[in-house]
Amino acid sequence: MQRLLIDTDPGHDDAIAIFLALAYPEHCELGGITTVAGNQTLDKVTDNALKLLSFVGRPIPVARGAAAPLERPLATASAVHGESGLGGVELPKARYQPVPEPAVDFARRFLAASDEPATIVSIGPQTNLALLLRAFPEAKQRIGLVSFMGGGISHGNRTMTAEFNIYTDPEAAREVIGSGVSLVMSGLDVTEKAYIEEREIDSLKRRGPVSRLVAELLGFYAEVYRSRGLSSPALHDPCSIAYLIRPELFEAEDMYIDVETTGELTRGMTVADRRPGRSIDPNVRVLLDVDRHEFVELLFEGLGRLDREVEESGRNA
Ligand code: RIB
Ligand code: CA
Repeated sequence: MQRLLIDTDPGHDDAIAIFLALAYPEHCELGGITTVAGNQTLDKVTDNALKLLSFVGRPIPVARGAAAPLERPLATASAVHGESGLGGVELPKARYQPVPEPAVDFARRFLAASDEPATIVSIGPQTNLALLLRAFPEAKQRIGLVSFMGGGISHGNRTMTAEFNIYTDPEAAREVIGSGVSLVMSGLDVTEKAYIEEREIDSLKRRGPVSRLVAELLGFYAEVYRSRGLSSPALHDPCSIAYLIRPELFEAEDMYIDVETTGELTRGMTVADRRPGRSIDPNVRVLLDVDRHEFVELLFEGLGRLDREVEESGRNA
């Protein structure tokens, strides 16, 4: 079982990733959440995180992080996640407040208090993580693994070459990926294969309260995809959690990855050294494929667990 800290910008797929981590306590002990501006502003993503945790009755500590990237202005993803960041749903008011300390201090304290090196799941721009490593370089020894959603070695989504999380803060990503911590990358190469079909989304509507909430989230998210001529929405962020629970569902290759920060067409591109016989020593385990059916089964089993928990508690039934 891994002690986890999730750094996130909820975000439809972030919400599902958080639920997945909560659903498998035998694998993931979620000790805290830090929020970062990305999909939406810091205030909105923090409120969304608190609302999601309130919905499932889990008072996991939430610490507010960076309101903007290290060097660039924030450009949110309102077109994908809506003005609230969780477009398509009206969640009940959050019952919890964020902890008073900022994300970097919370993360440092979290890592110091963990008996074993902890796992950080980064599913938004990597601003908080870069600031943590700058302020407390010794934290690196307390991080066993960073499992992050970001990048891609064949194409982007925010631009032709760059994926949104890395594009939003390429300087932060370059510092984290170059820091020497152990990294597993769920880039677009794998996350776009981790899609969910309309019939699968529909089946969630006939289940408990958490499944129904996810069906609503995915209904909005799927509409955005359809408006772009894409049939099934990709569950990007949940890949970073699913890998921790069932790594055998994924195919991976160790590669050397660096991040472009200045290119006019390539800012935020995760550049992989795939030259035959001449690669630089790998620094990232890059996920390239996933057993989609088993991935969806893992998610549905987890949502079922949360459904039963919430129904038995009498909340949101
Ligand atoms: O490109 C997908 C990533 O950008 C996901 O983390 C999604 O939540 C958005 O933040
Ligand atoms: Ca995200």
